[in-house]
Amino acid sequence: MSYATEDNITDLAADRWGTAHDPRLAEVMTALVRHLHDFAREVRLTEDEWLAGMRWLTEVGRISDDKREEFILASDVLGLSMLVVQMNNRFGPGATPATVLGPFHIDGSPAAPYGWDMSEGIAGTPFFVTGTVRSVSGEPLAGAVLDVWQADADGAYEAQLEVDEARLRAKYRAREDGTYCIRSIVPLGYAIPMDGPVGDLIARTDISYFRPSHIHFLLEEDGYERLVTHLFAEGTDHLEDDVVFGTKAELVTPFVHHEPGPAPDGTTVDVPFVTAHYDFVLQPTPA
Ligand code: BEZ
Ligand code: FE
Repeated sequence: MSYATEDNITDLAADRWGTAHDPRLAEVMTALVRHLHDFAREVRLTEDEWLAGMRWLTEVGRISDDKREEFILASDVLGLSMLVVQMNNRFGPGATPATVLGPFHIDGSPAAPYGWDMSEGIAGTPFFVTGTVRSVSGEPLAGAVLDVWQADADGAYEAQLEVDEARLRAKYRAREDGTYCIRSIVPLGYAIPMDGPVGDLIARTDISYFRPSHIHFLLEEDGYERLVTHLFAEGTDHLEDDVVFGTKAELVTPFVHHEPGPAPDGTTVDVPFVTAHYDFVLQPTPA
């Protein structure tokens, strides 16, 4: 056994963490130790900087709760979340690409029938999203679940507000022919939460802290890869500098403006409204 020195401490720590009982945990922890030590050596981390980092992490934990996910936000703005999404969702050509889940998804959204208005009286421009859910081979996926959530016309999510009912979220199902229809209001692009340690750090940079206008989807169907994705409004601000690196060309969709009149759900709307049309294509799960 040797005592730790500046030169041998990385090997000692990596060996120690390599004793993890689960081989994958041993692999992950050994690599983490090596990369952390390399980082500290590369920047010649001072003791004050180390302490500032520890205080920042403490604050990230302190501000987090069951509604606020500051660690996930940190991962998002560092590009880590999107890297992990891309490495783990390498779908084939034609499949709809995945993007970040984000911190505002809430489990257990209410089931909604075709055309249901998930905005139920919340102020905003009526918005209809229609299309089909199908497999890469073109087969319609009857019954596929579309779990949908979005920000309101002020850019706020339910998780950021004091409400006790589901707000701007619902679970739809594709019909027999794979079609779906969602009624809501046009979501506004928004700033990520800037009143915590992630915001404090971003405020010390030139990084834009906005996300482009989008609506979130989580699609599930037996025999297919789960798809976490968004649709982004074509032409909206911040498509190219999305603070969480989540925008993908295939997900940018025209949000078409209409005068009052017949809407895709078969009703007549007496104010101007917006439509988007998108076919989600799911990747079969490998056999
Ligand atoms: C979102 O789109 O809801 C989101 C994603 C990452 C960070 C903040 C918000
Ligand atoms: Fe969002």
